[in-house]
Amino acid sequence: MNLFAPDLKAETKGEELWERVRAQYPAQEPLLNLNNAAVSPPTIAVQEATIDAYRFISRNPDYNMWSNLDAALPGIKRDLAELIDCTPDEIALNRNSSEGLSAAIFGIPLTKGDQVLISNWDYPSVRAGWLQRHHRDGIEVVNCAFDIMDSDEDIIDAYVEAMTPRTCVLQLTHMYHWNGRVLPIERLCRIARERNIITIVDGAQTFAQIPVSFRQLDCDFFITSLHKWLGAPVGNGMLIVNRRQIDRTWPLLAPFDQPAMNIDKFDHWNLGTYNSAIQAGIKPAIQFHREIGADRMHVRLRELTRHWVGQARDIPGFRLHTRTDTESLGAICLFSIDNTDMKKLENTLREKYQIHTKYRQVEHVEGLRVSPHIYMLKSDLDMFVSALRNALA
Ligand SMILES: Cc1ncc(COP(=O)(O)O)c(C=O)c1O
Repeated sequence: MNLFAPDLKAETKGEELWERVRAQYPAQEPLLNLNNAAVSPPTIAVQEATIDAYRFISRNPDYNMWSNLDAALPGIKRDLAELIDCTPDEIALNRNSSEGLSAAIFGIPLTKGDQVLISNWDYPSVRAGWLQRHHRDGIEVVNCAFDIMDSDEDIIDAYVEAMTPRTCVLQLTHMYHWNGRVLPIERLCRIARERNIITIVDGAQTFAQIPVSFRQLDCDFFITSLHKWLGAPVGNGMLIVNRRQIDRTWPLLAPFDQPAMNIDKFDHWNLGTYNSAIQAGIKPAIQFHREIGADRMHVRLRELTRHWVGQARDIPGFRLHTRTDTESLGAICLFSIDNTDMKKLENTLREKYQIHTKYRQVEHVEGLRVSPHIYMLKSDLDMFVSALRNALA
């Protein structure tokens, strides 16, 4: 279906266009889901393709999985490569970002005393992975200190100041999972390249939420989950390994084929037997995303965030932990209410008003993360703000 026929322009038809988009999704009930940053619902087409594939597998598992469904994977990689601007032979399909991150963290050859830069704001399993390499291999893990509301320039300065001749890896998060802040990744990667430092970019939250070009970022590893903003079935991730790093990086799992010299060594068929039906949902998810368009998607998500924040700003004690005046703003925002137990507020919103937000605490910052998706309308967010006012009353 052509959701965005020329007669239906976003500017002229406003919410009507997005009602059409919403109709492509299964009903979201009983909760109003404002936690899409964790996992997004698939469209009905994605759901059907996945269920059909599972039925197909069940009729002749071995042949139908490996000789039939898996034959579509090179095409899926080509489509993904086009979306994110890399080559298909740099893409490995896996289960999620956690797996891709571990593949990079445990696969880069490092020796005792080599230094890795991370920050307190990175995803917990990223920090835990590097801590494990510290204990196992004697890698020195350095925490780069900056405030989450600092300017891009200050953050770049903080990373540069922390770099030493022993720095071998720069671990970066493209968009923080808990407050939606986007880092100046392209500039940081350029600085790292000039110093021969390998860059890992945790893009779990950016691919398909905001436009991303792997070539422009020019990082060494880019990791994402396809079940987040792309809306592929749960259990799909993508690891992009820059050509210059493929040969020297160890795979996480012993690969089926020897010699393990190409990107296939990171693909999840090295897991052994797995359920390939979930991959059948990637293609319709890509088709839907293409129809919406990466730019339009980002603009809409930013618009939804600014909409609810604009309505909530005058609530006494309302405090934002995300800057909303930047172009990189997307769907994710963290807020707190002064002198209020935010964990309790999360519960009240869910139990009494059927609104699902996510309590997050990182270091000294805590609050509720709100992350709408394109199947939501401004009226849903009005409902959320009205429930928030009532819950606080
Ligand atoms: C920044 C970031 N990194 C990694 C992950 C892990 O993603 P997954 O649970 O899909 O493996 C998440 C999940 O929310 C995330 O936001």
